[in-house]
Amino acid sequence: MRYIGNKINLLEFINSVVEENNIQKGTLCDIFSGTTNVAKFFKNKGFKIISNDFMNYSFVFQNAYIKNNKIPNFQRLNKIIDKPNIFKVINYLNSLKGKEGFIYNNYCIEGTKNSNYKRNYFSTENAKKIDAIRDKIEEWKNSKLISKDEFYILLTSLLEVVPSVSNVAGTYGAFMKINDPRMFKTLMLKVPNLIKSNIKNDCYQEDSNKLINNIFCDILYIDPPYNNRQYATNYHILESISVWDKKIMDTKTGLRPYENQISKYCKKSRCIEAFEDLINNAECKYILFSYNTEGIIPYNEIMRILSQKGDVKIYEKEYRRYKSNCNGNNIKSPLKELLFFVKVNS
Ligand SMILES: C[S@@+](CC[C@H](N)C(=O)[O-])C[C@H]1O[C@@H](n2cnc3c(N)ncnc32)[C@H](O)[C@@H]1O
Repeated sequence: MRYIGNKINLLEFINSVVEENNIQKGTLCDIFSGTTNVAKFFKNKGFKIISNDFMNYSFVFQNAYIKNNKIPNFQRLNKIIDKPNIFKVINYLNSLKGKEGFIYNNYCIEGTKNSNYKRNYFSTENAKKIDAIRDKIEEWKNSKLISKDEFYILLTSLLEVVPSVSNVAGTYGAFMKINDPRMFKTLMLKVPNLIKSNIKNDCYQEDSNKLINNIFCDILYIDPPYNNRQYATNYHILESISVWDKKIMDTKTGLRPYENQISKYCKKSRCIEAFEDLINNAECKYILFSYNTEGIIPYNEIMRILSQKGDVKIYEKEYRRYKSNCNGNNIKSPLKELLFFVKVNS
């Protein structure tokens, strides 16, 4: 999934640091879990996982991939779907007729043509499909035709496919002025790759700085935002599809209320204090902190804070990414991904 700070391409790098420091098993807490890619990787390796993020869509992913340990059978849907299983249920949702609901009325051109703001996040067809699928999942949940796990799995399937049919340059902070061809692909849910396990894992939707006071783990993996882009505003439509309370503000991009989801880690004036508080309250054997060379917490502050817990080792990986220059040309600029490893003093 397209997500700022997604560590999907850095999993081997993170794993190499864990292996080099001879940590084979135990509990890993992914306290800023986002897509859950890091938590999933270590769950697959046999670690017990605690995951957390203050966004609801992430909590949905965590429940589907981390807390849930089996492929559910959707038996309660047998009056609607003959001999149901996960594939048949996904097919059933994919074949629903689109409807004009919250997404259609607020986030596509046709549905917003008479509103204060015309918004072009989705094609008419996909907006209606999202409404039909999300309403059906909610209806099944409310009438207890699906279990909690089944609810989170179906919702994950929807949330993961929405970015691939959105008319955005990566985030929902704005829609594209020129239509991105991906918005005209037909939205099709896929069956999520669930992870079977016998280990009990725990998920949270809390502020990391609060949750830290209740967590004991072996590895505390910390991957906070590294710049001023708030996740709540950049992923507001995913959050709305996830929560489905149909709340919207009358703004150009149709933001949802987000006053409880403002991250201190995105503020230059608050990030050091937040990071120091998190580290001071951490009860763990090892700290693994992901950041990069463009992060707003200065390097010397990171070192000062982490060294209070133990010796700090730094691992780095160069990343090449494209950045637009002022002429509209693309130039390559180097970005280093950093991993700070601390063996906490006992
Ligand atoms: C860099 S992303 C994590 C990416 C994740 N490791 C992945 O691979 O997808 C940072 C995450 O921190 C979350 N976040 C920001 N501030 C938070 C806070 N104070 N408490 C909990 N979560 C927070 C954001 O919602 C976002 O998902």
